[in-house]
Amino acid sequence: MSFFSYQNGELCAENIPLSKIAAQFGTPTYVYSKAALLENFSAYANACQGHDALICYAMKANSNLAVLNLLAQQGAGFDLVSGGELLRVIAAGGDPQKCLFSGVGKTRDEIRLALSHNILCFNVESIAELYSLNTIAGEMGKKAPISLRVNPNVDAKTHPYIATGLKDNKFGIAFEDALATYQAAAQLPHLHIVGIDCHIGSQLLDDAPLLAALDKLIELIDQLAEQGITLHHLDLGGGIGITYADERPVAVADYLGRVFARIASWRASKSGSQHTSIKVIFEPGRSIVGNAGVLLTKVEFLKPGAEKNFCIVDAAMNDLMRPAMYQAWMDVKAVNNAAAVEPSTYDVVGPICESGDWLARNRALAVQTGDLLAIMSAGAYGMTMASNYNTRGRPAEVMVADGHTHLIRQRETIESLFALESILLK
Ligand code: LLP
Repeated sequence: MSFFSYQNGELCAENIPLSKIAAQFGTPTYVYSKAALLENFSAYANACQGHDALICYAMKANSNLAVLNLLAQQGAGFDLVSGGELLRVIAAGGDPQKCLFSGVGKTRDEIRLALSHNILCFNVESIAELYSLNTIAGEMGKKAPISLRVNPNVDAKTHPYIATGLKDNKFGIAFEDALATYQAAAQLPHLHIVGIDCHIGSQLLDDAPLLAALDKLIELIDQLAEQGITLHHLDLGGGIGITYADERPVAVADYLGRVFARIASWRASKSGSQHTSIKVIFEPGRSIVGNAGVLLTKVEFLKPGAEKNFCIVDAAMNDLMRPAMYQAWMDVKAVNNAAAVEPSTYDVVGPICESGDWLARNRALAVQTGDLLAIMSAGAYGMTMASNYNTRGRPAEVMVADGHTHLIRQRETIESLFALESILLK
């Protein structure tokens, strides 16, 4: 169900009118629904019941401490890509031992930090990283738990910027090189091989490419077993998409059901061999938080033109990058849908000095200056990708929970933007 719906002509988050939130906290503001977040997580948790599985929320989608804390309470692990993200997990009460560290460019300091917190696994993306991990773990008197991120060369059929499983992507280790890389890893004394992983892309509507990737990983796990390398887990990455317009993504339960069925039949065919009890890990991001949040913004000016009408709002590409960066289509709703004006077709744009600063194009909206709009399904890759371009403080973040609103991140102040800067001293 949607936790953002109209009640008496007013768009609400759960049962709280967004206009009330705007009056209290100002705009632009990200507004999240706790119930939506928990429902999305439950879809994964329920589908995993009775299976040896772990859900590691890909926190790059939304890393607010309140979001992480709620998911940690549900038993989530985390997929992280920086030392900063690991420290966020810890600050939010999450368990580092349920954390995976992904990414092609982990720094030595980040590796040390992650080793010192005994994370679950490093998802290794290159041979160079493998050697570096071995050296650093040796220096610290530890064994680094590793998985190789294998690039299965499967077409995820998504936007080129968010497809990651093809040969020409910077990610992962080529499928053909994986066996030799595992053999090399097995020779390194300060590594402990624990798993295999892949992540082929984001906003996937169909699970066929994910299941094709699973088949390729299974093929590799069998080959590794023949070489005496046994894995404890298999990590399929994230990727299930959400509805922005009229997309119909595969249901999480159906996708996970097919994964577990495939694994069960593989285990049955291998009964008696060592890797029959492999743990399955998922790294969902967007499908947990995407439709649990909206960006609330106010109309500053209407600017009719010969070619286009512009609806100029107080949110901009620095607050929500997805349209400018991926030409992403995000739904825009008038917060009050009982407007007295006739609809016109607008481009919804921000105040930033770039033609690319748009949030939506060619939308029929019945709006006047001062009205509120909600950019829908903005909970994932919204605030985490926001910047301070044009010296704009990033939006406030509010969570609606059990009939109450909570300010979970204050709007950035101008003072906070200057705080780390200084002028030259003589
Ligand atoms: N695991 C890894 C290793 C990833 O790189 C990603 C996302 C995920 C998991 C989570 O994928 P999800 O379940 O969210 O599809 N900024 C873009 C999306 C970038 C995705 C990057 N990697 C956007 O706004 O569409």
